Amino acid sequence: LDNGLARTPPMGWMHWERFRCITNCTEDPENCLSEKLIMETADRMAADGYRDAGYKYISIDDCWMSKQRDSSGRLQSDPIRFPSGIKALADYVHSKGLKLGIYEDFGQYTCMGYPGSEFYLELDANTFAEWGVDMLKLDGCNSNIHDMTAGYETMGFFLNRTNRPILYACSWPAYTDSTANLTDYNVIKKHCNMWRNYRDIQDSWEITLDIINYYGKDDGGFSQLAGPGAWNDPDEVTNLRKMRASSKELLLNKRLLAINQDPLGIQGVRLWQTGSVGAWMRPLAGNKTYAIALLNSDNQGVPTTVNVKLENFGLTQESSYTFYDAFDGSSFGTFSVNDTIKVRINPTRKIKFNKFIN
Ligand code: GLA
Repeated sequence: LDNGLARTPPMGWMHWERFRCITNCTEDPENCLSEKLIMETADRMAADGYRDAGYKYISIDDCWMSKQRDSSGRLQSDPIRFPSGIKALADYVHSKGLKLGIYEDFGQYTCMGYPGSEFYLELDANTFAEWGVDMLKLDGCNSNIHDMTAGYETMGFFLNRTNRPILYACSWPAYTDSTANLTDYNVIKKHCNMWRNYRDIQDSWEITLDIINYYGKDDGGFSQLAGPGAWNDPDEVTNLRKMRASSKELLLNKRLLAINQDPLGIQGVRLWQTGSVGAWMRPLAGNKTYAIALLNSDNQGVPTTVNVKLENFGLTQESSYTFYDAFDGSSFGTFSVNDTIKVRINPTRKIKFNKFIN
């Protein structure tokens, strides 16, 4: 969507994966979805370096609403969990130099049964803009998938008409992909800044890997659609209040973020998969510069050794290439196109070249 927003992949936090629809704050005051959770997360984003590293959006997902619209049909936040209202919360988030995202659903109800935007698209767009919301995730539960193209376009029209810059995150392909001929990605790209196209992420390596594989298979070549203003959205996880030092280091790693935020915005693709080892690659801005990742998806055992020729990465235009470790910035040295590089790759979560042996 060419609305000036999300020129690089939007960075931020969404509440859903970790906090779900926990609505009983008496029983679970720490983890229930409430203004306290959002404000504390905003505090962490600002104070712990995330904001300054580029994480700007803090997004409330499903279950923030009251079960009823007000007497004039407007959405209202749950009075117990969000007593100050969304406008005040947006003011707080803005005061921290962050942006606020919110969730609605294109259908009659949200996935968890709260009031949906069906028949209220214009009113809801205006309400979000008046509250100072900066991003809308529009889900697709409880709707007719045949109405989605027109419906999502219409919401986009009303958001645009508010004149407030509101990043538009669509869930439409995640629903219509099961009926393949209903997903026209070029239309989606025109109307949305980002779009979910696959299942929800969970706290589980199996599901994370399944999502990685979905992106690796890249059916129909959806990776090619990504670019400034328009992104495939693989879903995300985080609890900023309880972050392991090693996870935080990864999230704040400047070299990895520079790859993620590269201005060309070309999505990485999986070049090949041999056994449990997959090679991913994307071109970066700058002359003949690329990011390469080798992922060993095995979840057991010792590091796997693979021998890779530069031509296996398609690196044949130059006589030699210099390799750096994006995790720590160290140099691996320079290799010529005919060299075979021996790489040891840890299993599971370590998406990393361990060592180059020429
Ligand atoms: C769907 C979405 C999730 C989340 C929930 C909320 O499952 O895919 O990301 O928004 O609904 O109910």
